[in-house]
Amino acid sequence: MTAPRMMKLGAFVHETGQHVAAWRHPDAYAHSGTSFAEAASVARTAERGKFDLLFLADSAAVSVFGSADSRGRMAKLVKFEPMTLLAALAAVTTHLGLVATSTTTYAEPYTLARQFASLDQISGGRSGWNLVTSNNEAEAFNHGLDKHAAHADRYDRAAEFAEVVNGLWDSWDDDAFIRDKDSGVYLDPAKMHVLNHRGKHFAVRGPLNVARSAQGRPVLVQAGASDTGRDLAARVAELVFTAQDNFERACEFYTDVIARLPRFGRTQADVKVMPGIYPVVGRTEADAREKYDFLQSLIHPSVGIAVLEHTIGIGGLDKYPLHGPVPEMGDTNGPLSRQRLLLEAARRENMTLWQLCLHNAGPRGHLLAIGTPAQVADTMEHWFRNGAADGFNVMPAWLPGSLDDFVDMVIPELQRRGLFRTEYEGPTLRENLGLPRPPGRWRQMELVAQ
Ligand SMILES: Cc1cc2nc3c(=O)[nH]c(=O)nc-3n(C[C@H](O)[C@H](O)[C@H](O)COP(=O)(O)O)c2cc1C
Repeated sequence: MTAPRMMKLGAFVHETGQHVAAWRHPDAYAHSGTSFAEAASVARTAERGKFDLLFLADSAAVSVFGSADSRGRMAKLVKFEPMTLLAALAAVTTHLGLVATSTTTYAEPYTLARQFASLDQISGGRSGWNLVTSNNEAEAFNHGLDKHAAHADRYDRAAEFAEVVNGLWDSWDDDAFIRDKDSGVYLDPAKMHVLNHRGKHFAVRGPLNVARSAQGRPVLVQAGASDTGRDLAARVAELVFTAQDNFERACEFYTDVIARLPRFGRTQADVKVMPGIYPVVGRTEADAREKYDFLQSLIHPSVGIAVLEHTIGIGGLDKYPLHGPVPEMGDTNGPLSRQRLLLEAARRENMTLWQLCLHNAGPRGHLLAIGTPAQVADTMEHWFRNGAADGFNVMPAWLPGSLDDFVDMVIPELQRRGLFRTEYEGPTLRENLGLPRPPGRWRQMELVAQ
C-alpha cells in the first residue's frame, strides 16, 4: 500500500513579518533583523508546527526604491545574512529544514557550494539553497558594477553556476572517509573527484573541501517564473517556489514546469512545486477579516508606494496621483514575472495605484487566504488535490502572532484531514520532503557503466 500524499510546508519568514507594516502591530517582534532570540523563537515555532523548512529570502543591498520618508518607516532594511543566521538556528532546532536564498548573479560558485555544504553538515542534512538571479538591481552597486546584468545574461550565468555547484557537491563519495586509527588511513583518495569545470562564466577545478552530508547534498530550490526561469527550474530545481494569486494560473504553472522535466532527464518525483500563501486566520470569519483590516490600516502611503516599487522593480511611482489609475510602465530588468502578475491583477480588477499598494502590502502577488482554519485549509486542500501545488510556503503577516495562528489553528486542521504529518519522517530535509537522495554523479557513472 502506498502512503498517502502529504502536503509540504515551508515557513517563509521575513524579519518582523511579510506585511509591510508588520512591525507596527502592538505584539510584533520589532527587532527581528537584529535579534537572534526573536529569530530562534520563530524557528522553534515552525518546528513545533512540523514545518518541512524555514525559508529566508535575501537581497545583498538596501532597496533603492522609496523616499527618505518611506525608508525611515520600514523595518526591512536591515537583516541577518541568511547563511550565518541559519547556521546558528541549526544549533537550536533538530528537524526543521533550513533554506537560504543566495544569488548566482553576484556570488562565486565555489564559495557558495562550500557554505551550503557546511550548513548541510552542521545541521545534519537539513540545508537548502534557493537559487535566485537577484531581483534587487541595487546589488550591482555593492559588487563593483554600475548596472545590474540583463535578465537573459543572469539566467545564462545561473544555469552554469548551478551545474558547477552540483558538481562540487559530488566531490566525495559517501564512503570516502574511513578514519581508521589502526591503519592510519583517513580517507580513500580514489573516492575524491576533481570537477575540472571550464565553461563560459566559470573555471573551477575542485574538489570541494567539504564532505558529502547525511542527505547527500543540499536541496536545490529555485524561484523565477519567466520562460527562462521555468526552464532553469525544470533543469535543476528540486523545490520550486512560485508566486501565484489564483488557482487557474497556479495549475498552468504547475503543469508547465512538470511538462518541461523530461527534456532534462527528470521526472515529477524529483520536484515539489510550492507556491506562497499569505494566510490570515481567525476563530471566525469576522475575526480573520478584522485582523487583515487592522494591518492594512497601519500602512503609511509612502511605505505602500516604496514596497510596490520594490516588488515590481520600477521607481518613481510617487509622481502619480495615489488614487488615480496605475500608470503604464515598461518591463523591469528585476522581478519581471512579479511585475507582470501584479499589473495583470491591477488591470483585471481596475485598481487605483493605492489599491494596488494595498493589494501588494501583504501577499505581494502570492495567494491570499482570509478565514477560519477550515476555510484556509479548504483552499490549501483544493490547490493540493487538483494540480496546483505539492505544498506551500506559508508567509506569516506579522511575527510571532501570524505564525502562531497558523501552527495552532491551521496545522491541526490539515493533520485532522490527513493532509499533513504529525511527526517528522526523518532527520534530513530530503527525507521530509520525500525527495530522492542523489547518489553523486561519479557513483551514478559507475552504475551506468556496470
Ligand atoms: C517567488 C519568488 C521569490 C524570489 N525571491 C528572491 C529573493 O529572495 N531574492 C532575490 O534576489 N531574488 C528573488 N527572486 C527573483 C528571481 O530570482 C529573478 O531574478 C526574478 O524573479 C526575475 O526572473 P523571472 O522573470 O524568471 O521571475 C524571486 C522570484 C520569485 C518568483
